[in-house]
Amino acid sequence: MKRLSWYRLWQPVIGPRYFYRRGVAVATRTDILKVTDLSHEVDLGSDTLRILHKVNLTIEKGESVAIVGRSGSGKTTLLGLLAGLDTPSHGRVELDGQPISEFSEDERASLRAQRVGFVFQSFQLLPALTALENVMLPLELSGQSDAESQARELLQRVGLGERLQHTPRQLSGGEQQRVAIARAFAAHPKILFADEPTGNLDNNTGQAVSDLLMALNQEQGTTLVMVTHDEHLAARCERQLSIEAGEVSETRGVAAQGVAV
Ligand SMILES: Nc1ncnc2c1ncn2[C@@H]1O[C@H](COP(=O)(O)OP(=O)(O)OP(=O)(O)O)[C@@H](O)[C@H]1O
Ligand SMILES: [Mg+2]
Repeated sequence: MKRLSWYRLWQPVIGPRYFYRRGVAVATRTDILKVTDLSHEVDLGSDTLRILHKVNLTIEKGESVAIVGRSGSGKTTLLGLLAGLDTPSHGRVELDGQPISEFSEDERASLRAQRVGFVFQSFQLLPALTALENVMLPLELSGQSDAESQARELLQRVGLGERLQHTPRQLSGGEQQRVAIARAFAAHPKILFADEPTGNLDNNTGQAVSDLLMALNQEQGTTLVMVTHDEHLAARCERQLSIEAGEVSETRGVAAQGVAV
């Protein structure tokens, strides 16, 4: 039985805040993400592929962090593990004080729905829904009564006020990416993970999407963790992490100032 079941059993009685304050969750108040000795391997049958090796890092609330590295270095894999889309082979990920790497799939989905936004490399909008409906969905799922007006406002914010009723097939790549960002921000996540948010966009649209991400980070205090090949976007983040040969190092930011991560 997983260690978590104790918490699941008592959560209705003690409530989540009490749980954190008793110090069972290790993360400090300002940490939103704490990664300890995280390693990830995949079994290829005849061989084992080591993707990440003993990664340790801490990200504080409100920070903006770029993850860079060559193609195939493990950036998407790392992002998925940090966001609780997958569980690591070894090690621990604590997200907002919760040991998400030890959670079941259902528990991870529930934590993600409450606190995490994710912008995928391939957008992943629901094809049968309009732009407006795609953005409304997380708001409706979290029980908000004014889902439609909030979704309209967010889409206006990303410059798509005139495209509300378009389905993804009727939108350009850049427009779909902006719908995906509006959707990710709809539930006011504490932390937003974005995988190549400007990857498929032309320079101007990429710049507009970068501006939007940074503005939402500033205005809503949302922690941003994004994988990017875009040097300009990476340079705008407070910290840059680089992945090479399965290891993560800080190339600019906390470690560069002489503080351990
Ligand atoms: N489930 C899997 N099974 C086998 N190999 C995998 C699996 N997932 C990832 N890999 C391999 O792990 C490596 C890292 O993949 P990942 O998608 O994390 O790279 P990336 O840094 O995001 O690359 P890109 O910049 O091209 O998106 C790649 O070599 C990939 O082929
Ligand atoms: Mg990738």
